Amino acid sequence: MTTSESYTLDSYVEDLKRITQETDNEDEIIRQVSPLAKRLAVEKNWLEQKHYEADSEQGFGVHLLHEEPDHSLAVFVVSWLPGRGTEPHDHGTWAVVAGVEGIERNVRYQRLDDGSRPDYAELEVKHDFKADEGDLVCMKTGGIHMVRNETDATTLSLHTYGKHVNHTNRSQFDLESKEKKDLKIKVE
Ligand SMILES: [Fe+2]
Repeated sequence: MTTSESYTLDSYVEDLKRITQETDNEDEIIRQVSPLAKRLAVEKNWLEQKHYEADSEQGFGVHLLHEEPDHSLAVFVVSWLPGRGTEPHDHGTWAVVAGVEGIERNVRYQRLDDGSRPDYAELEVKHDFKADEGDLVCMKTGGIHMVRNETDATTLSLHTYGKHVNHTNRSQFDLESKEKKDLKIKVE
């Protein structure tokens, strides 16, 4: 970690590399990454006006700030349009999300089925809360959540993943039909 007052995206990436070189234990990675993600999220020196842009069809905008050549250590700022969000999904890797601007509803789920059917998943709400600026949402591989912006302004959050989520085998879940499907997102 840098000793200067300002914490930059470059410093964060260096810290991510160091941490993931030292350990591949996801609990330990999340424990070390989360305070740094929070620091960068509230610092906002990396934030640009274009990061507020969102895809109206998708309901949110995904802006890549960093990824390694092998797609690992992907950092995004995601902008969420008012009243929009995601279906429940996983990430296929570890995830650390830190609130940047506005309040985002975050619902965590747990699987009730044994995972033996490839296209089927039964989910139950585990935790339903509102994440404010600087609040953290951390998930190991397999963690399932959904995000919704229930405010009337665009919200922003900083998302760090072990790997770019369009390069992992990850899924979206339909709560009604209990269907589990592949998920790819549009990145700006
Ligand atoms: Fe997510």
